[in-house]
Amino acid sequence: MARDCTEIEIGEDGQEVKRPPIYIPEALPTAQEALYENSINTGLNFDRYEHIPVNMSGANPPKPITAFSEAIENEHLLNVITRSGYTKPTPIQKHALPAILSGRDLMGCAQTGSGKTAAYLLPVVQKLMNDNDDALYGEPSQKPLCVVVAPTRELAIQIHREAYKCTIGTSIKINILYGGTSVSHQRAQLSAGTHILIGTPGRLADFLSRDWISMERLKFLVLDEADRLIDDGFIPKIREMASHSSTPTERQTLMFSATFKDEVQIVAAEFLRPDYLFLAVGMIGAANSDVAQVVLLVEKKDKKSKLTELLSDTENPDSRTIIFVETKKTADYLANFLSLTNNMTTSIHGDRFQAQREEALRDFRMGRMRVLVATSVASRGLDIKGVSHVINYDLPNDIDDYVHRVGRTGRVGHPGRATSFFNTETDRGIASDLVKVLKESQQEVPKWLEDEALGKSAYSFGETDDIRDPSEFNHDDFGAPAEDSNSAPAPEAALGDDGEDDW
Ligand SMILES: Nc1ncnc2c1ncn2[C@@H]1O[C@H](COP(=O)(O)OP(=O)(O)OP(=O)(O)O)[C@@H](O)[C@H]1O
Ligand SMILES: [Mg+2]
Repeated sequence: MARDCTEIEIGEDGQEVKRPPIYIPEALPTAQEALYENSINTGLNFDRYEHIPVNMSGANPPKPITAFSEAIENEHLLNVITRSGYTKPTPIQKHALPAILSGRDLMGCAQTGSGKTAAYLLPVVQKLMNDNDDALYGEPSQKPLCVVVAPTRELAIQIHREAYKCTIGTSIKINILYGGTSVSHQRAQLSAGTHILIGTPGRLADFLSRDWISMERLKFLVLDEADRLIDDGFIPKIREMASHSSTPTERQTLMFSATFKDEVQIVAAEFLRPDYLFLAVGMIGAANSDVAQVVLLVEKKDKKSKLTELLSDTENPDSRTIIFVETKKTADYLANFLSLTNNMTTSIHGDRFQAQREEALRDFRMGRMRVLVATSVASRGLDIKGVSHVINYDLPNDIDDYVHRVGRTGRVGHPGRATSFFNTETDRGIASDLVKVLKESQQEVPKWLEDEALGKSAYSFGETDDIRDPSEFNHDDFGAPAEDSNSAPAPEAALGDDGEDDW
């Protein structure tokens, strides 16, 4: 059972005081079946993945695989693959698995919902098992062999669950560290030893700076949603980890995202060995082509009624909708409004207590709530069954954020729908990027939006994706289809929440 204490106290002046939560999250289920509940089967368009062009650059990339069995020989992992219902690898998996297994650093980019998590977890776990490192059997230590960093707590929780599927019943121990939760609980969990450690940057960096974990045995550093982690807010924490005196330089570094702006790639290269492989499935920064995107011109005062109209228009009563807003205040306000108007609504944002955030997501995942109002905290990585509609009640300022938000639907080949409210007072800045993204995914662009779209765009689709000079390495363009290429506890409050709840 999750526990959650002393979040609200009455202060000396009689007012309620918001205390840092000493939240102890629920443990993962021990029954394997429970881990596979609510997972997403492949959708109608899954086979279309085969036709997405793949570009791998960097010297001597290994040949892609066509079937999992060509790369994964570990019985336990093959079982996980079967149980997960994966009949064949997705394009990112076809290329990333052999790349990672052959020891290369990798920057991998592929559209939202196309299996990037398994693309790194399967080879990393297999390598750890094959290496048969003493660390797997000796005295429990707090020296992980693999650290996976994710920008939000809920994404870290999701990855932890996926990693657990791959390691349950083996000698590999996995742990999670994230803000908003009890530090002493996390330390106690770590005391049993850790081999794969998943976490958010603030909490991980804090544990490292207090010597509660050490990077000295690190073999793999994985940055999921790497471009976000390399962003201004998180980069000092990532540097603390990647460049910590205990962190071996001979580790393998793996980065994944659906978006990698050029400027981010430049900074990312600092953490990778110079001969890293750059893998792009489709266009970098493109929206998932299985999502039908519509942009509506809606004045601020009309947003609420338009939203009500859209929600009442949902054909399938079982389908779920995520509504993205820009501020925590709007999230609360809208969630209240929708709850009052008979929509089973919950909300997630950085001002909610961690226990509430997790409960909201659980309710939404289980279908107890049909509508989730969220800030950008929920824009990246979350893989939730049955999300058929994403609504940008407020558009984000950044096009990458748009691409990730839209990507909460249309997963593994399912068709999805995204509707965005465009307000001329606030959204002009994103217009030209939005037009590019819409065109790139063959969506209709309204004339009024074309007119708004003046100015420079962050991406120029169709140009070379890898920022490095191709003459530096043998360029290998795999083209499409991929297969054809054959080829002592501190106070709880003081710890690790920096940036993690700032959404
Ligand atoms: N080979 C496969 N066959 C079928 N389903 C798969 C396969 N690989 C992964 N999946 C499923 O696809 C879904 C999306 O995977 P995942 O969350 O890893 O996507 P992602 O590429 O990381 O997306 P995002 O960019 O949003 O983080 C998951 O439900 C996962 O179980
Ligand atoms: Mg992901």
